[in-house]
Amino acid sequence: MIVSLLLGAAAVAAVPTGRDASSAIAVTKEAPQEAGDSILQPFVSFSIEFAFFPDYAGNKSNPNDFSNNLLDNLASLQGIKPYIRVGGNTQDFALYDPNLKTSTNGTIVPAKSTDYPYLLSIGPSFFESYATWPNTKFSHGFNLAKNTTAAMESLLATVPLACKALGDGKLMHWELGNEPDLFSTSGVFSPRPKNWNESDYVDNWLTKERAIKQKMAHACPEMATDSAYTYLAPSFAGVDNSLDPVKTWRDGLDSDKNIRLNSVHNYMGGATQPGVTLQKTLMNHTSVMNSVDQHVTLAQELKSDGLARGIPYILGEMNSLYNEGKPGLSNSFGAALWGVDFNLYSASQSLHRTHMHQGTDYRYASWQPVQTNKTTKGTKAPYYGNVMVAAMVNANHNDQVRVLNLPLEQDTESAYATYVNGNLARLAVVNMQEYNYTGSTAASQRPSVKYAFQLPEHAHGKTLAVQRLMANGSDAITGITWNGWSYNYELNNGKPVRLHNVTIGETVPVGQKGVVEIEVPWSSGAILNF
Ligand SMILES: *[C@@H]1O[C@H](CO)[C@@H](O)[C@H](O)[C@H]1NC(C)=O
Ligand SMILES: *[C@@H]1O[C@H](CO)[C@@H](O)[C@H](O)[C@H]1NC(C)=O
Ligand SMILES: *[C@@H]1O[C@H](CO)[C@@H](O)[C@H](O)[C@H]1NC(C)=O
Ligand SMILES: *[C@@H]1O[C@H](CO)[C@@H](O)[C@H](O)[C@H]1NC(C)=O
Ligand SMILES: *[C@@H]1O[C@H](CO)[C@@H](O)[C@H](O)[C@H]1NC(C)=O
Ligand SMILES: *[C@@H]1O[C@H](CO)[C@@H](O)[C@H](O)[C@H]1NC(C)=O
Ligand SMILES: *[C@@H]1O[C@H](CO)[C@@H](O)[C@H](O)[C@H]1NC(C)=O
Ligand SMILES: *[C@@H]1O[C@H](CO)[C@@H](O)[C@H](O)[C@H]1NC(C)=O
Ligand SMILES: *[C@@H]1O[C@H](CO)[C@@H](O)[C@H](O)[C@H]1NC(C)=O
Repeated sequence: MIVSLLLGAAAVAAVPTGRDASSAIAVTKEAPQEAGDSILQPFVSFSIEFAFFPDYAGNKSNPNDFSNNLLDNLASLQGIKPYIRVGGNTQDFALYDPNLKTSTNGTIVPAKSTDYPYLLSIGPSFFESYATWPNTKFSHGFNLAKNTTAAMESLLATVPLACKALGDGKLMHWELGNEPDLFSTSGVFSPRPKNWNESDYVDNWLTKERAIKQKMAHACPEMATDSAYTYLAPSFAGVDNSLDPVKTWRDGLDSDKNIRLNSVHNYMGGATQPGVTLQKTLMNHTSVMNSVDQHVTLAQELKSDGLARGIPYILGEMNSLYNEGKPGLSNSFGAALWGVDFNLYSASQSLHRTHMHQGTDYRYASWQPVQTNKTTKGTKAPYYGNVMVAAMVNANHNDQVRVLNLPLEQDTESAYATYVNGNLARLAVVNMQEYNYTGSTAASQRPSVKYAFQLPEHAHGKTLAVQRLMANGSDAITGITWNGWSYNYELNNGKPVRLHNVTIGETVPVGQKGVVEIEVPWSSGAILNF
């Protein structure tokens, strides 16, 4: 049987649940109206914490090739290399020091955060990190929070460096400020008073944005034209913090008509929030829908008010649990499966692109770019979730890719269809039923669920190729494979390596009446290709 081949020693439990032809999920040949809008390519993208960008990218004399290999893998899978947003909390802490010999000088202030520096200066060589990854587009996060005269001078001094580093087609868009909707309320940082409101924010943003443009007009005139000088904004932490996104747009955030992406951030919950578990919080399609649907509601409100018109809504920073993830949970294979469900569901709801947030030593990181005394350099479990999403949205550059959510019965399962240029191209199933393989809770047998799809006529009698996202269990943090490939650092610096202990080349037949069945073990995912 498929599953026992895949899992070697593990036997298949006696069909615990299943769907047969009578309960098959119907799939149409052409994209139905409920499918999400066409995604923006590249859909799978990253956000890298400003202070740690030099760790991820390296510098001219020491480029981080491991990171580049991981990005290139995703480029081959999805068709275009991920875009990189360089930003986060530390973009609003950073001051420029022209005499600094290193790229950053960061000091952790434990009362603020133990995960990233609160005191941060960047030197001229910080900008070398934009030169290390070929064919990659970036956004650079300017500092909005610091508001003294000296801070304004520091900001403007970085403009020539930033525009020179991001010339030659490397710029995605600029960004100014991270999560300003928390500026007056986020306890430990709070760079603004309690009564700071939407129109104050818009004034601050426009004042700085215009000053940056003026400076850029001298340093890089070709980047300061109306068509080239563009932003992603407002980069709010969420849809209902101390600044209301609807009021913010209404108050004239886009007065200069230079905002090209409506970026909002998302986390499923907090790393230390009580009651957060893998099964309940992450490996749960209902909680994924609840989290994503807030953005859908906001997008509808903006639309019905005629705001942010024609500006695609993206998740410009997101990951599993804020405060950099929970150990044993955000770094597990279960979190990779959550990442598949979350990102495909986002695509199905017309969130056009997602940037998964990364940082050195972060628990939810897809990879650790350098060795530290806390974390081993390497490819981490969540990366394999990025890989499956990339495979699911694969297309050529100008193709239209739409993702459809196929509702299933349980919280612990999800299915999607991808339509390329309107036609059915792939199906995905994510079985998020938690399966532990270590510890006393490990079951002796790994159950699986059988899924049946009723396919359109053109697929009747065909044979479909299957690719699987697999690991020993949801608690695995290593030994993860995509279609038999490992991208682990220790094997070939992040380049794909075929493992010989995993079955590949699996196919499933489509019956003459158009039903195809696939067994999906607990805590694993699969794609069927047309
Ligand atoms: C470049 O990176 C290497 C390795 O991290 C470091 O030793 C060197 O100081 C960096 N160069 C600059 C100019 O920051
Ligand atoms: C780095 O920052 C710390 C804290 O602000 C400061 O004390 C130290 O002098 C700085 N080091 C350099 C080389 O600028
Ligand atoms: C926002 O605050 C400013 C003063 O800080 C005030 O002038 C303005 O009326 C306030 N706007 C709203 C909508 O409350
Ligand atoms: C920050 O700077 C802006 C623009 O110069 C100014 O309008 C605003 O009042 C300042 N806010 C604070 C809190 O200093
Ligand atoms: C999934 O999340 C929903 C909404 O939070 C919750 O009601 C449900 O119990 C969760 N399911 C599981 C299996 O934990
Ligand atoms: C770990 O590394 C950090 C940063 O390089 C350093 O400040 C710290 O002292 C190290 N801790 C230990 C226990 O070696
Ligand atoms: C897996 O382990 C977690 C934490 O150790 C536990 O909460 C959960 O119930 C276990 N799941 C199963 C299916 O045994
Ligand atoms: C996964 O399970 C296999 C078979 O039991 C075992 O040989 C292998 O070491 C496990 N891998 C990890 C990463 O635990
Ligand atoms: C397959 O081999 C890899 C690399 O040797 C190992 O890490 C992994 O645990 C193995 N997986 C299984 C299921 O045995």
